[in-house]
Amino acid sequence: MSAAPPEPATIVIFGGSGDLSKRKLLPALYELDVQGQLPTGTCIVGYARTGESDETYRTEVKAAVAEFARIQPVDETKWKSFESRLFFFRGDLNQPANYAGLKTRLETIEKTRGIPGNRIFYLAIPPSMIGTVVQNLGSAGFVYPADGGLWSRVIVEKPFGRDLETARALNEELSHVFHERQIFRIDHYLGKETTQNILVFRLGNGIFEPLWNRRYVDHIQITVAESIGVENRGRFYEEAGVLRDIIQNHVLQLLCLVAMEPPVAFDPDSVRDEKVKVLKCIQPQTPDEIIRDTVRGQYGAGAIGGQPVAGYRSEKDVNPMSLRETYAAWKVQVENWRWAGVPFYLRAGKRLAKRVTEIAIQFKTPPISLFRQVGAMKQEPNALILRIQPDEGIALKFGAKEPGPVMKVDPVTMDFRYSEFFGASQPEAYERLLMDAMHGDSTLFARRDEVEAAWERVTPLLDVWRDNPPLDHPNYEAGTWGPDAAVALLARDGRRWRRP
Ligand code: BG6
Repeated sequence: MSAAPPEPATIVIFGGSGDLSKRKLLPALYELDVQGQLPTGTCIVGYARTGESDETYRTEVKAAVAEFARIQPVDETKWKSFESRLFFFRGDLNQPANYAGLKTRLETIEKTRGIPGNRIFYLAIPPSMIGTVVQNLGSAGFVYPADGGLWSRVIVEKPFGRDLETARALNEELSHVFHERQIFRIDHYLGKETTQNILVFRLGNGIFEPLWNRRYVDHIQITVAESIGVENRGRFYEEAGVLRDIIQNHVLQLLCLVAMEPPVAFDPDSVRDEKVKVLKCIQPQTPDEIIRDTVRGQYGAGAIGGQPVAGYRSEKDVNPMSLRETYAAWKVQVENWRWAGVPFYLRAGKRLAKRVTEIAIQFKTPPISLFRQVGAMKQEPNALILRIQPDEGIALKFGAKEPGPVMKVDPVTMDFRYSEFFGASQPEAYERLLMDAMHGDSTLFARRDEVEAAWERVTPLLDVWRDNPPLDHPNYEAGTWGPDAAVALLARDGRRWRRP
């Protein structure tokens, strides 16, 4: 992202009163304003179906910011300054007339605030509505040419489609109205500081990259574990499941960053070119291989932090006989010169033992076990753990001689913690990504071919799973590490999941 401030703009949030807006987007914009990053004049228009006025919207947003802003408590003076940037527009997403009304309203606001008319349209709305909104924006003349002076950009929230076909159709619809340079497909994992640090760690240091290949690495595990259940999103989960919700996007993005080749430059296309290559190198699997190399799970009742919690089938808006997966594990092979033969084990799940996202790179054992020969070594391979969240940091595990007269080697850990070096509060992913969109920098957003390549690999799993309904759901207790079959998936290869 450029260090120079971006040009002022109007940020229109479709779904301006929704959950995402209240929990993430508006608190992030507030933080950016507090840090002085929002250019003078920049304003935010919440577009929603229900609501009264700018005043009532400001009150609503204030409550959300008070609850969800990263830095607490909210400062009244700073709030007042932020509040003056906030506006409300009531409208139905389907009605073309509303878009004409919106246009007039934006022009009035922009004139009063003395800003030129650059616009970001943030689509925090159900996926089924994206096409309609995009078409309406096009017909109402909201979209400037991509290479002109004024700019218009669209940010599209995940899930981006529900399989390859729908993702392609959505890309097609978007491309009729916006140029690819104007489209920002968001995956908030890419805005996390620790995710961005993966490339810095690998390519900004001289000592790790030479080890980063099939010669030294035994296998890699990527874990996105959550202790929360589906909360109030039962309806969404019934439609999506964890494969679509987490693996297709967040986990595959992490995989790309770990596995990709060094890009020729740190610019949007060079970085994304390399990520796409990784996705294309994921070895396609036959239906039998998919059955063999994947595990599905669904949580039953259990306990989290000592408190009893309900099973998935008892959650609000969930079918009591649901077969939807809340856990998935997948063994993936990236077939290229760097990684051939090195398995990547991916897993994600709700209601697991704890919240942790990490990448564990497990190295091969030394070719000769000198110390084991004298009975002194507890055999533990070296491992590098990139802790994405919480307790952000990087740990290196290695063997060290235990002091004393007897030769005894113990596993020890060298640990770097973000909070110790950089302070406790990291910027929220949405803060970074919103600023990048204002700058027009799409490095941390998914390109069209990238989402399609990810769906190309995930869609066969969806098809095979649909055709082979699970017989054992629910198959893991809430508060555990998932189904036994996931343990067996690695045990078969003589390996085991790391206990984060
Ligand atoms: C979202 C998923 O994309 O990511 C949620 O839809 C999930 O189901 C969330 O809870 C996890 O995000 P984070 O940043 O808390 O790891």
